[in-house]
Amino acid sequence: MPAEQSQIPRLDAPATALREIDAFYLADEAAVVTQLLERARISPDMLETISAAARTLVQGVRERHKDVSGLHAFLHHYDLSSQEGVMLMCLAESLLRIPDAATADKLIADKLTSADWHQHLGESQSLFVNASTWALMLTGNLIELSAEAQRQPGDFLARLAGRMEEPIIRAALKTAMHIMAQQFVMSWDIGGALARASVDEHRDDRYSFDMLGEAALTRHDAERYSQAYTDAIEAIGAATDHDQPIAARPSISVKLSALSPRFEYRQRQRAIDELSKCVRRLAAAAAKAEIGLTIDAEEADRLSVSLKIFENVYCDAQGGAWSGLGLAVQAYQKRAIPQLRWLQSLAASIRRVIPVRLVKGAYWDTEIKRAQEQGLDDYPVFTRKSNTDVSYLACARFLLHECPDLYPQFATHNAHTIAYVHLQAEHREFEFQRLHGMGEELYDAVHTDAGWDRPLRVYAPVGAHEDLLPYLVRRLLENGANTSFVNQIADARIGIEDIIADPIGLTTRYGDDLRRADIPLPRDLFGARKNSKGINFADDSAMRSLKASFEALKDQTFGA
Ligand code: FAD
Ligand code: 2OP
Repeated sequence: MPAEQSQIPRLDAPATALREIDAFYLADEAAVVTQLLERARISPDMLETISAAARTLVQGVRERHKDVSGLHAFLHHYDLSSQEGVMLMCLAESLLRIPDAATADKLIADKLTSADWHQHLGESQSLFVNASTWALMLTGNLIELSAEAQRQPGDFLARLAGRMEEPIIRAALKTAMHIMAQQFVMSWDIGGALARASVDEHRDDRYSFDMLGEAALTRHDAERYSQAYTDAIEAIGAATDHDQPIAARPSISVKLSALSPRFEYRQRQRAIDELSKCVRRLAAAAAKAEIGLTIDAEEADRLSVSLKIFENVYCDAQGGAWSGLGLAVQAYQKRAIPQLRWLQSLAASIRRVIPVRLVKGAYWDTEIKRAQEQGLDDYPVFTRKSNTDVSYLACARFLLHECPDLYPQFATHNAHTIAYVHLQAEHREFEFQRLHGMGEELYDAVHTDAGWDRPLRVYAPVGAHEDLLPYLVRRLLENGANTSFVNQIADARIGIEDIIADPIGLTTRYGDDLRRADIPLPRDLFGARKNSKGINFADDSAMRSLKASFEALKDQTFGA
């Protein structure tokens, strides 16, 4: 085997130790995707059956979607990926944090006058052609844009921003954030969420409640979130029908970053000790309440610490009958298959099922930006959307066929992905999952039009405005991105065949261009001038080799 080839990590190698997962952390995208393609590929007949099923689902959603109005229309028509769209979102987000009106008005004045609104003129899908949606959504005449204002939005905004005695935009943006919060958040408190779950949604949907909160900055925040989780577990347990098997009961979803202000790789040992203790307490409460507890997946640099914490808590509960401790796995990371392999081997050794929620991943933009800032050798995530899709399909197959001790939970709002999973699953038990405020029509079509009677769990965020912002921004990015399924399905100009395009075929057609050329490697970010090279402190093997280099030099004296 040529030396170069032998260095490419193999996805079929065992992953019983965490370092075997990290071998894929920043692996070469083409090398990983080539192996994933082999794993995801299925027969042309099967592919045709999947396409037909996905087509039925998309048609079903479009039928139900005819009377689209309000927030969905707004989210679709606003080009959130434009500079101005992003700015409006940032502005709305910042406004909720600013306590006094005078500072809020200054921020508005500064931001609104600095963007290039003019460049959007004349584009039918532009931000300001749709400004009337913005106005309408805010109930009519909060911001009623005149024809003149729509033709000259820059001047209009400059004038508006100058009239600070009339802080219309402040009120409007705040209202917009509140409306969006209502869409994506189930309730302010767990009591309200449980009450709503019992009457609101259809069929026998299961729920996983998430007490909004993440990235705690202080110990006080972490304690507050921990208490909110503890109270919620108790309330969910009390409202649960204990005759059902644990997989069918409601559960709680927890973000580790909410539970410690020091959940970072630089504080690895401290984070592992403190968080293992805290999660152990929550897991014990969930076991007592006889409900599940799933640890959400967050940023890539938190993964190896999260896995260590998961292992500590999971192994501690050894011997107990509770099989509710679950974990989310992100398919957009190159480490997804090794992570699943590691979880399967852990579950087999302890002989207790682990529920695994497979997601594509919600932090893509952050991962790309951070890897660039840090000058890493490569990205922890794929750069092409279809590569992530292929990875998801390969992971789904791996979970269904090679992980008998993992309980698969497929969290997606994409019709093709759903069809692939369903038709691969045969007799295996699993559940689908969707986010509250997204995917209702799609799963209606899954049940009614396709007639697939698989259980569905709804991830239901619970909390107050001040805690929802990062969550909300991720949902807005997801709904606004033109590559995302939820955005495409709402766009009548995009044909069904494009929406259900087979990602395996798409990726195969990229041939030697498996990574995106317009997202250069972090070192090539500045063209001819090389970006500074960074060390991936979140990768233990990189840290070990750094330490070894220090050791080798420690007895030497240098003079200059
Ligand atoms: P699709 O539109 O098919 O996929 C969109 C996804 O593709 C993006 O989110 C991103 O992952 C990926 N993508 C987009 N552009 C690119 C690109 N250029 N290159 C590579 N990949 C790209 N996310 C978490 O991170 N952690 C969690 O714990 C978590 N829990 C969830 C729980 C539930 C119940 C659900 C439904 C979602 C959860 N998510 C979580 C969010 C999830 O990651 C996103 O909703 C999901 O990625 C959207 O995928 P899709 O199949 O619905 O849509
Ligand atoms: C997020 O918080 C749902 O965990 C996912 O974006």
